[in-house]
Amino acid sequence: MGLDLSVEIGGLKFKNPVILASGCAGYGLEFEDFFDISLAGGVSLKGLSVKGSGGTHPPRIWETPAGLINAIGLQNIGIDAFIRDKAPRLRKIDTVFIANFYGHRIEEYTEAGVMLDQEECVDALEMNISCPNISEGGIQFGVNPPLVYKVVSACRKAIKKPLWVKLSPSSDIRETAKAAVEGGADALTVINTIPAMAVDVEKIEFRIHNRVGGLSGPAIHPIAVRMVNDACQTVKAPVIGCGGVEKAEDGIEFMLLGATAFQVGTALFRNPLAPVEIIEGLEKYLERHGFSSMNEIIGKLHNGNDKPRSCS
Ligand SMILES: Cc1cc2nc3c(=O)[nH]c(=O)nc-3n(C[C@H](O)[C@H](O)[C@H](O)COP(=O)(O)O)c2cc1C
Repeated sequence: MGLDLSVEIGGLKFKNPVILASGCAGYGLEFEDFFDISLAGGVSLKGLSVKGSGGTHPPRIWETPAGLINAIGLQNIGIDAFIRDKAPRLRKIDTVFIANFYGHRIEEYTEAGVMLDQEECVDALEMNISCPNISEGGIQFGVNPPLVYKVVSACRKAIKKPLWVKLSPSSDIRETAKAAVEGGADALTVINTIPAMAVDVEKIEFRIHNRVGGLSGPAIHPIAVRMVNDACQTVKAPVIGCGGVEKAEDGIEFMLLGATAFQVGTALFRNPLAPVEIIEGLEKYLERHGFSSMNEIIGKLHNGNDKPRSCS
């Protein structure tokens, strides 16, 4: 039986639902020594900004028993350098490239979005709204629904390609999901890293120079599962699950709850071949359960009519 792993997100076709998560796969090309990245459904590129950034001071990574705390500080080469040095190679690779981008002011978001919108290798854009908004005194865009609406609608008006919004787990996900979709988001990525801290008790100092970093990896997976469920139950827009996926079954959990696809991030650092193994695992799962396509499992757990339940 021919298995169909393909999924569609807002008119964009993906050969399978496995997308490399932003910041964990560089500009895609870094993985070429490990596997043919055109095997992946898509690649979300390292978050780009108009002028680029050197990131934060080291130490900026700390490995925990079940994940990673990072405070890279959105280090990136800037959009002009990306278009000049990376995009020509990406244009020749047959997968979906999603340009992750950010700014510290609404105008920085729209400027970055417009520049990336014009690049041929970019198939969709993914807004990272977990940045402090300078004009609003440092409050994160992503935690404030009216601000989410404002920044998303400004970008939606300026950009032609599909616009994904990556939600912050520090927000009430139902409210920010609603605000992003009302602002014109075509899809939602749920979730980004969770603010975390670690202390070296011998040296009596913070493990991360920035003190606070973002926790990712298996530790956050059950939280991401709950938030993906809540987002899927709140909005009709496609949801892309993200957080702690290490094997096919972790991504399938997201899809059974309604996600159309999922991203793989931290797992890539431990096992760069994780995407290939996950794709094989998806095929085995479909076979094991007698399904013929990934589309059959999307939202299967709810059958489209369950209502969300709150915790006690
Ligand atoms: C080192 C590192 C860098 C990251 N950089 C970005 C980024 O530039 N933009 C973004 O939206 N998310 C970024 N993320 C968050 C991931 O894309 C993902 O949302 C998060 O790590 C949860 O997924 P995971 O548990 O599979 O890693 C980064 C994560 C890590 C670990």
